[in-house]
Amino acid sequence: MERTFAIVKPDAVAAGNAGAILHEIEKAGFKIVALRMTRLSREQAAGFYAVHKERPFFNGLLDFMTEGPVVLMALEAPDAVKAWRDLMGATNPEKAAEGTIRKKFGTNIERNATHGSDAAETAAFELGYFFRGYELR
Ligand code: RTP
Ligand code: MG
Repeated sequence: MERTFAIVKPDAVAAGNAGAILHEIEKAGFKIVALRMTRLSREQAAGFYAVHKERPFFNGLLDFMTEGPVVLMALEAPDAVKAWRDLMGATNPEKAAEGTIRKKFGTNIERNATHGSDAAETAAFELGYFFRGYELR
């Protein structure tokens, strides 16, 4: 078993798609280990996406990620990091495969409905960034 970190981003929560996305996650066989709805501060979002701080889209990304509530989740499944990235689809919803969450619920390369850790080490950092140890037992 492996764990990964997921976010339902502000666009998908505002559109009323959080429940449908959670349903897709459960249908695909992930166990939702931890879950919290919150609105990120700019500082929290900047720390989370620190790897992108030199990118031209960084400020816009912070505007987007702080515009409304998000749903933070720890997901568990065999090969969870890859399995969740596969279920989400490509970063750009226009290029995402049919049936993926970003294809169904994303709008464009920035407003793309969900986040998923891109490697096991990233997942460990991201899970620890938002959840306490006792929430991940
Ligand atoms: P994420 O980290 O959110 O799961 O997305 P990802 O790995 O598929 O893509 P990444 O390259 O890590 O980008 C992080 C998020 O930044 C926004 N983005 N905007 N305007 C742009 O060109 C652009 N490129 C990326 C997206 O919200 C992307 O998910
Ligand atoms: Mg990423």
